[in-house]
Amino acid sequence: MSSPILSVQDLGKRFGSLFAARDITVSIPAQQTVGVIGANGAGKTTFINMITGHLRPTKGTIHFEGRDITALPSRQIKAMGISRSFQVAQIFPSLTVFENMCAAAAIGRAPKTLIGHVRTPLRSQESVAEAKTLLELFQIAPYRDSLAATLPQGIRKLLDIGMALAGAPRLLLLDEPTSGISIEEKFDLMQIVMSALLSRKITVLFVEHDMDIIEGFAERVLAFYDGTVIADGMPAATLADPRVQTLISGPKLRSAVGTGAHV
Ligand SMILES: Nc1ncnc2c1ncn2[C@@H]1O[C@H](COP(=O)(O)OP(=O)(O)OP(=O)(O)O)[C@@H](O)[C@H]1O
Ligand SMILES: [Mg+2]
Repeated sequence: MSSPILSVQDLGKRFGSLFAARDITVSIPAQQTVGVIGANGAGKTTFINMITGHLRPTKGTIHFEGRDITALPSRQIKAMGISRSFQVAQIFPSLTVFENMCAAAAIGRAPKTLIGHVRTPLRSQESVAEAKTLLELFQIAPYRDSLAATLPQGIRKLLDIGMALAGAPRLLLLDEPTSGISIEEKFDLMQIVMSALLSRKITVLFVEHDMDIIEGFAERVLAFYDGTVIADGMPAATLADPRVQTLISGPKLRSAVGTGAHV
């Protein structure tokens, strides 16, 4: 197993009297695909927000590729190689798919300063080439000239995740990549996303409520409950853990009949 790309030590986040995250110690090897599960409010997004610098931890440390990134500004963390998607797609609705991807590629290639972003032309040869490659990789080239506002939800998600890949990150954090996608479409969407990430050798953490998707795509599962990790291991073992079944996923039968998909 390779050395950790991400190491989180005793991480915690308090909002007033609420511990949104506490006692989180996790080490992730490069190129691992990690699923993150937990009920609503369990602290999954808070965990991601601290890694990406969108929230400052109250306690603990975060190391990326051996460097301490605890509470660095989010822009600097992105420039170092950590990218993310949000629960709600962050795209420009009034631009076309291609224009969105060019913008992401241009920002991804910009010198890592604010003024660099402002000065970077959106249509440099390099960013156009990268945008084209990413459209192909995420299988959305047929939508190239569609306005982002008019896209079906699945294509919008692929665009959003493709944009997060601009700038060649080495760690990608996906916050509910299949939210709002029908059960029938989820598997295909994840197939496209995961093969794209695999081809780029990217380490990925993805938050997911559907246990079938977790079993299908995660190599390892972190189970969150009440701000902390209550189980961490291979999917089959973690999902069979009695505490995980009681507190998060419910018995297998429930998800099989479709009542436990979003706990
Ligand atoms: N900025 C904030 N200020 C105050 N409380 C917050 C803030 N952000 C999150 N919380 C609280 O922290 C807890 C964890 O929230 P978080 O968004 O991390 O949960 P989650 O596991 O991502 O849930 P979901 O599955 O609904 O997305 C919740 O109780 C939430 O209300
Ligand atoms: Mg969340």
